[in-house]
Amino acid sequence: MPKHAQHIPWWQDAVIYQVYPRSFADADADGMGDLRGVASKLGYLKDLGVDAVWLSPFYKSPQADAGYDVADYRQVDPLFGTLSDFDDLLTRAHAQGTRIIVDLVPNHTSDEHVWFQAALAAAPGSPERDRYIFRDGQGPNGDQEPNNWQSLFGGPAWTRTVNPDGTPGQWYLHLFDVKQPDLNWDNDEVHAEMRDILRFWLDRGVDGFRVDVAHGMVKAEGLPDWSEKVSMVQGTEQPTVHDTPPYFDQEGVHAIYEEWNAVLAEYDGDRMMVAEAWVEPMERIFRYVRAGEMQQAFNFGFLLAGWNAQNIVENVTETLAAAAVVGAPPTWVLSNHDTVRHCTRFGLSDPTTFPKGIAAQDEQPDEDLGRVRGRAAAMVMLALPGSAYVYQGDELTLPEHTTLPDECRQDPSFFRTGGVERGRDGCRIPLPWAAESPGFGFSRAVDDGDAPASSGSEPWLPQPDSYARYAADQQVGVEGSAFELYRLLLAVRADRELGRGRLEWSRQNRPADGVLSYANGALQVLANLGAQPVEVPADLEVAVASRPDAVTEDGFLVPDAALWLLPRA
Ligand code: GLC
Repeated sequence: MPKHAQHIPWWQDAVIYQVYPRSFADADADGMGDLRGVASKLGYLKDLGVDAVWLSPFYKSPQADAGYDVADYRQVDPLFGTLSDFDDLLTRAHAQGTRIIVDLVPNHTSDEHVWFQAALAAAPGSPERDRYIFRDGQGPNGDQEPNNWQSLFGGPAWTRTVNPDGTPGQWYLHLFDVKQPDLNWDNDEVHAEMRDILRFWLDRGVDGFRVDVAHGMVKAEGLPDWSEKVSMVQGTEQPTVHDTPPYFDQEGVHAIYEEWNAVLAEYDGDRMMVAEAWVEPMERIFRYVRAGEMQQAFNFGFLLAGWNAQNIVENVTETLAAAAVVGAPPTWVLSNHDTVRHCTRFGLSDPTTFPKGIAAQDEQPDEDLGRVRGRAAAMVMLALPGSAYVYQGDELTLPEHTTLPDECRQDPSFFRTGGVERGRDGCRIPLPWAAESPGFGFSRAVDDGDAPASSGSEPWLPQPDSYARYAADQQVGVEGSAFELYRLLLAVRADRELGRGRLEWSRQNRPADGVLSYANGALQVLANLGAQPVEVPADLEVAVASRPDAVTEDGFLVPDAALWLLPRA
């Protein structure tokens, strides 16, 4: 880079691949993915062309919420391996130019964390209890919750403790599961500990953090009642909540991010933080990425837009405007470990709906339609300026498991809502690597190229039979596959520096008719989310098509397809 050139941090335009360690690849064949499994697939990720990997939690945990209940922030859970497996993964990733960001869970710990155990053993009012949010109950015997807050997983957000002598004691707050007590961010020790945890991972060399429930840590003074239920993921089927709950998006959270920004600034290499903050409106999300706070925030509005040109155009327009105000990169995401996979959502009769999991008795998606749209959606997303997130399996157009038997379910939200919410297990199914192997090659020998799978345990969640057709070995190197499409898109994106580009809506953009079209530099994106064929401008030629039959002989783009176009030479 010439000396005078402006320094652009890597995260401005990075494509970041989310690895959900439980379900990515299982090296020791115990049915649960692990860090050595991730390391064994680094070649695959390099081949795909992603810049960075975000690892969902792999820390010591009783796994009450799949690791988002951390018992020790500085240890790897034996399920996933050891610290030295982590160091090895990081070294190998860095050697091939792939960055690694890790999940940080600061809103709550596990109830098995030493701090919470000490708090239970200590008296009300003690410094040990002050690290969490303990309160006396209401009513004459203190047997009513301290306030009316509901857990995001369903049921009350308070649980009563039992004193050492067996009598009922104080209550503690848990916005999530009963095994996830909320930390008290008014306590200086909590601040100091979390800074130290950041340094622990920064010293090991991580490139950044995905910050879990980044909008949740500070609670309004006096913990006032709040009668609306807020779901984890605000679906389009719910009325939008405009008032801010007293436990989310409080002004005080921003001071925490300033503190952490200063910690990251002690390190070289453009370390970053990305906020998981389900807040609205859009301007409030971008308050998390003002100068001196975090570097990125997830844009869940894009994920919620569904397969609908108007929703997408609105979200993109608003996002770019709000991002410009604070000078932070916009981000884009279609799926993650908390939401029904987009290839499945886009195959439902209304492709803008947002179910909280799908079970056999619910509407089943049109899988082929979903995956055709999933390919086109990737083309809409990956030419946008900014940073894009890919959830493991997106590159295979992997669907949700929509008929998972209830007895296999593990997500606490399923149990806490009495099954009303089907939960998030269906998007967390172990990846299919090899169509012909047991467990589709999820559990296998460590090194790529080794003979597949010693006969290991069953995958921790069963895979649907249809996963055979999506398996990586059916797609890598196979012309016309979704994997090869993603690989091509990422290569063109990198080559043309689309992530650093600028979007301009094209003349052809007619979202009301389902036509979405924009330019980024010389590249034009044309996507047909409507029902009628759309004319392809004669002065442009197809650089990438979402599917081989995207354009008719007379030059029209068929519905549910997209093109990347370039001026004719
Ligand atoms: C975040 C995670 C989700 C987890 C919750 C509680 O939303 O993405 O998986 O259940 O936080 O930690």
